[in-house]
Amino acid sequence: MSKLWGGRFTKETNKLVEELTASIGFDQKLAEEDIEGSLAHVKMLSEQGIISEDDGEKITAGLKSVKKKLLAGELEYSVADEDIHMNIEKFLIEEIGPLGGKLHTGRSRNDQVATDMHLYLKKHTKETIALIESVQGAIVEQAEAHIDTMIPGYTHLQRAQPVSFAHHILAYFWMLERDKQRFIDSLERVDLLPLGAGAMAGTTFPIDRERVAEILGFQDVYPNSMDAVSDRDFILEYLSAASVMMMHISRLSEELVIWSSEEFSFVELDDSFCTGSSIMPQKKNPDVPELLRAKTGRVYGNLMSLLTVLKGLPLAYNKDMQEDKEGMFDTVETVMGSLNMLAPMIETMTVKSDAMRAAVNEDYSNATDIADYLVNKGMPFREAHSVIGRVVLYAIGKKKYLLQLELDEYKSFSELFEEDIFGVLAPENVVAARNSEGGTAPKQVVKQLSLAKEKLKV
Ligand code: ARG
Repeated sequence: MSKLWGGRFTKETNKLVEELTASIGFDQKLAEEDIEGSLAHVKMLSEQGIISEDDGEKITAGLKSVKKKLLAGELEYSVADEDIHMNIEKFLIEEIGPLGGKLHTGRSRNDQVATDMHLYLKKHTKETIALIESVQGAIVEQAEAHIDTMIPGYTHLQRAQPVSFAHHILAYFWMLERDKQRFIDSLERVDLLPLGAGAMAGTTFPIDRERVAEILGFQDVYPNSMDAVSDRDFILEYLSAASVMMMHISRLSEELVIWSSEEFSFVELDDSFCTGSSIMPQKKNPDVPELLRAKTGRVYGNLMSLLTVLKGLPLAYNKDMQEDKEGMFDTVETVMGSLNMLAPMIETMTVKSDAMRAAVNEDYSNATDIADYLVNKGMPFREAHSVIGRVVLYAIGKKKYLLQLELDEYKSFSELFEEDIFGVLAPENVVAARNSEGGTAPKQVVKQLSLAKEKLKV
């Protein structure tokens, strides 16, 4: 069969041009959405009397049979038919004869492709949201088990102040919560129907766009046909929400890599989430968080690439816009694959509470608390900071931690020190003392956990 648009041409398409312009290699992922959109379109055409009811029924049956055959792998896509839309139309015509050619009445591939992508992204945004929640659930589970587990908190990757491990890991819960909100918010704009825009200016047929929107489950239609076929910002929103989320996932992954190193030994990832080395028998490598960290790059790349494709395009449709798809598919697959991996990896990891606790015992991260102690005894904070700086320097010189200094040694720095300083210095008390709202004290963490569970409704 010749090209669906072949009438105006006298020569065959150059084979290389065919390969360059074809998108069937990747847009076949839209097959189900394309058929869903066509089924709604043909229903509306027949309801409006634009085609006869009988034709409508035959086309509908034909589309359903094409879908069945496609899912069964019985049909073969052809590069010569360029994209998923024309491949399916060809299959339909092969199935029911020239009548299949009526399907494209009042429609263009321009509004068709935009509709397919809205359907695809709406579905996958919802799936992404559900997967984020499963990661949040895994975080909550670990947090619940580790409210009283202490871990050094860092700034500049230098020990800063001890915190509850639950508090640390819950920080990612809230990042993911905002990520989720960004996806939820984007649903409102992906929930618009472009179909009925035609090539760009609308159509001469008496179509009913609201009816198509209703059949396909869109809450509204694009009010401007030129915007409807030119807009790709609904994809950019997914890509940018995905980029921010992958940045968060990458930071968490980085921590998991660091924590599972011999030097830290704060967590052990389950064997089923690690790989070995082909030469060093002792190795257990955290490949999964490493790859999640790395995959963040391709998601950013896809966002940059589409922003760049779109920035110079005049209205309305331009073939450049076909380049919107691979990055979208790649991002959706990368994001969903990463989230899918993250939840069970977090759930199954072993938190080495003893190693964390040992680390907390062997540092100077309770120094702020001694400064606060002096402040509570009336010394201005700046002066206290300087006094404790000297205490720390002295302790390092003596190869002792702050809990190991004698009261006399403390007193040599300030007469304000009393026996009660040792209570202040115990890590449990250091953590418990940070009882301000959103702080790391167990009381606050328990409150935070219930807020988190409320968000998940568990
Ligand atoms: N494969 C095309 C795309 O993905 C479909 C729209 C083609 N429209 C056109 N006028 N060539 O963008």
